[in-house]
Amino acid sequence: MKILVLMGSPNRKGSTSLLVSEFVRGARDAGHQAEVMDVCHMNIHPCTGCVRCGYEGPCVLKDDVEEIREEILSSDMVVFATPLYYYGMSAQLKTVVDRFCAYNSSLSARHLKSALLTVAWNSDDWTFEALESHYKTLVRYIGLKDMGMVLGYGCGSPAMTKRSPYPAEAYALGRGLMA
Ligand SMILES: Cc1cc2nc3c(=O)[nH]c(=O)nc-3n(C[C@H](O)[C@H](O)[C@H](O)COP(=O)(O)O)c2cc1C
Repeated sequence: MKILVLMGSPNRKGSTSLLVSEFVRGARDAGHQAEVMDVCHMNIHPCTGCVRCGYEGPCVLKDDVEEIREEILSSDMVVFATPLYYYGMSAQLKTVVDRFCAYNSSLSARHLKSALLTVAWNSDDWTFEALESHYKTLVRYIGLKDMGMVLGYGCGSPAMTKRSPYPAEAYALGRGLMA
């Protein structure tokens, strides 16, 4: 299947990137086509809330979201990859999610598979409560089919992440995906 990873960390060589690389390696080893969009380094503006799209239609903002829209709608699975920023996803990734507004119905109609890859400094058991809840709510609302989450507790730096079990978990998630 075709998998699109929305890479929501601005650090190209950071901890989120480590999980993304391992997930993609696993998915490709399983025979899937997996691509990464580095959304933090693309030209993406926040939704202005004008709703001229009517929740499904051309957006007044002309930027790289068109490219993302085409990729998502031609994929079978979307992966949200983000560092934990104040207990939510990064603003860069949230900006992409808010822009789903202009293709909300098309996206819901696809019933894509999905996954969450995330890392945080903290390792308290409540670290990912809010993000997990947000992700699960998106899954429910958009009609996605959750294939799994890798919640990287105590992954505050690439060195910490490399020592953790989470890169292997990300690989296993990708490797275990069925067509
Ligand atoms: C703006 C900002 C907010 C953060 N907020 C949290 C947080 O709420 N909880 C936490 O445990 N770590 C937090 N962190 C730490 C990062 O999630 C952690 O260092 C992560 O490994 C960064 O991933 P990256 O290497 O992909 O950038 C924050 C870091 C930044 C820069």
